[in-house]
Amino acid sequence: MLRASGLRKTYVTPAGDVHALRSFDHAFEPGKVTAVLGPSGSGKSPLLNLLAGFDVPSAGEVWLGDVAINRLPERERSGLRLRSFGFVFQSFNLVTVFSALQNVALPLGLAGVPRAERDERARETLERVGLLHRADHLPHKLSGGERQRVALARALANDPAVVFADEPTGSLDSANGALVLSALEQVALDGRTVVLVTHDVALAGRAHSRLRLLDGRLDSVDHGGATVPEAGLQDAALTGPAPTADRAVPLTSR
Ligand SMILES: Nc1ncnc2c1ncn2[C@@H]1O[C@H](COP(=O)(O)OP(=O)(O)OP(=O)(O)O)[C@@H](O)[C@H]1O
Ligand SMILES: [Mg+2]
Repeated sequence: MLRASGLRKTYVTPAGDVHALRSFDHAFEPGKVTAVLGPSGSGKSPLLNLLAGFDVPSAGEVWLGDVAINRLPERERSGLRLRSFGFVFQSFNLVTVFSALQNVALPLGLAGVPRAERDERARETLERVGLLHRADHLPHKLSGGERQRVALARALANDPAVVFADEPTGSLDSANGALVLSALEQVALDGRTVVLVTHDVALAGRAHSRLRLLDGRLDSVDHGGATVPEAGLQDAALTGPAPTADRAVPLTSR
């Protein structure tokens, strides 16, 4: 279980202190997609960076199970990241001179997995996202949606307990965005924790729960399933058939 308690982050800059996160407490449920929403500057990326151990809090703790990851020395934190976390970013961050397969195998190499095993695991993971037939393609030969699915496969290759996604659908059209979200949903069904930062209220409406940040604070938590906010319906109406109550269900039908 990933859990934050009393989390604060203040950046000291020449222009003064920036209180990116003022106080944040939340336990992220395994097997669920939790969307993090909030206006630009509300602290979403700083929160993700703290949860993922890229950054250390000014106060408070980030727990993964019974390990306070913020207290680990950087070397151990990065080892824990390689073993337990996967990341998907808006801009994909694929290595342009590596094939899809090599991109997916990259973090396994960093984690010390022997070559034959990492290639096999990379192939299996590409297959899970439906892209085995593109294994030898360089990223520029892939569509935006395919690139994002390679990035997702890379995030999953180490069998992580937690997958973090920061605006993973931001550079995609709505159809490809929906595909990526469905893939993240499958990831959660395997019992993993998925933390999804997004501006897209329609996508967030399909997550299992939503956290809203405002000015560095947790403004609201909503575990409701079937509500799609008004703006999301309007967006969907622009790009597809008229929305119905049936389409406003959470990603899983359980
Ligand atoms: N490394 C840093 N050093 C100094 N200030 C930072 C740093 N990272 C973030 N901040 C500040 O923290 C605040 C919140 O961060 P940020 O704007 O990334 O939030 P966000 O909710 O992710 O926004 P967006 O939706 O635009 O990505 C901002 O005022 C930002 O300038
Ligand atoms: Mg951000």
